[in-house]
Amino acid sequence: MPVDRNPLYPAGEPLTEGAIGAIRAQFPALSREHDGRPYVYLDGPGGTQVPRRTIEAMADYLQRCNANHEGAFATSEESDAMLAGVHAAAADYVGAADPSEVVFGQNMTTLTFAMSRAIGRTLKAGDEIVVTRLDHDANIAPWLALEEERGVRVRWVGVREDDCTLDLEGLERALGARTRLVAVGLASNAVGTLNPIPEIVEMAHAAGALTFVDAVHAAPHVSLDVAALGTDFLVCSPYKFFGPHLGLLYGRRELLEGLAAYKVRPAPNEAPGKWETGTLPGESMAGLLATFGYLEWLGETYGANAAGGAAATRRARIGAAMAAIGATEQGLARRALTALGDVPGLKLRGIVDPGRLAERVPTFAFTLDGHTPREVATELGRRGIAAWDGDYYAYELIRALGLAESGGMVRVGFVHYNTPAEIDRLVEALREIGAETMPGGARHGG
Ligand SMILES: Cc1ncc(COP(=O)(O)O)c(C=O)c1O
Repeated sequence: MPVDRNPLYPAGEPLTEGAIGAIRAQFPALSREHDGRPYVYLDGPGGTQVPRRTIEAMADYLQRCNANHEGAFATSEESDAMLAGVHAAAADYVGAADPSEVVFGQNMTTLTFAMSRAIGRTLKAGDEIVVTRLDHDANIAPWLALEEERGVRVRWVGVREDDCTLDLEGLERALGARTRLVAVGLASNAVGTLNPIPEIVEMAHAAGALTFVDAVHAAPHVSLDVAALGTDFLVCSPYKFFGPHLGLLYGRRELLEGLAAYKVRPAPNEAPGKWETGTLPGESMAGLLATFGYLEWLGETYGANAAGGAAATRRARIGAAMAAIGATEQGLARRALTALGDVPGLKLRGIVDPGRLAERVPTFAFTLDGHTPREVATELGRRGIAAWDGDYYAYELIRALGLAESGGMVRVGFVHYNTPAEIDRLVEALREIGAETMPGGARHGG
């Protein structure tokens, strides 16, 4: 699918070098140095850096209105107003019709376990749930738990090994009259594949099943729109899109209202409160509001509408930001694909065709001949480049690719604050590492 026809990538102009400079200046962490050179953050898939306004908002909350819910005093009222504001902003962010459709929690994993247990209560032995081998385990294990607890049958959708895309015919075969839910990722946190969610949702709904979409990895890269995706649930993690450590769940209103939550008795019986167990981390919520503000600023300043004045709504401003971010990242992805492909002994997995950039986000996983992924990541780390190695909980995919015993893959991820120069630094380092003999005597093969 061409980039300009993928609704996840709304049309936008790439950010200029000057804009990237101004954007980078917003992120205090990006001024860190390593041996006199800028530190290179390619660990975005594990968590992104945050803008200064987010850090300041967290400190401000703790200084100014650090209080628990529903007190008859000013700090509690201010804190509650802020929490309501974050729900409204998050609803705009994901394209939900109503702020009560957004639930916050510790992280995506915790929210998904809570929801899988609540959904599990409605299931009978023999009911079926479909999961995929492309997903992070946080959208698999919570559903597998229901096999043991409720006698639910879990059916698997495999991955095409050549390009790490989902086997959609396999999905068709896995769906049936007993299917109750399809759990699927929007983007793979290992190889960056974007799944065709509207199509998958349509297939699931035609079988009478609900859909639970993990958008954690996609969120910093694409424009989220629960209405366009058509999904019943969607989860993401603000700490992966320039916010503090938190989890965010969207659920269709009737479902959040109708399902029974595991909650303390005095807690609200309505959504979202019934799902938000205990006290929310006020400082992180305040920080997230500032992160949405950052995206609005980016959209307003550098988005397509920048010349014509501010977009009318928060959602439009965030949409303009994501359009500019998407266009910028396409450039980074193209450069990274070409440059990584030229490193001797480096084997990239996933979509490597530059003509198919609209089907992926700029996250790349690879092996380097003669070196374990941990050795490569350690050597990159010594050079001030943060990159992950292992399976990053894409547990099934790494096994399906036969890489579990050899340490998985090295993973580098680019977000909008990364630069072409950082790709060049990475590639230069990989060429050096590839040419080195490691202490164990291993040597690259070509
Ligand atoms: C695709 C994906 N899903 C889920 C998770 C889990 O997110 P959290 O840490 O918020 O539980 C991650 C984290 O790496 C992820 O990349």
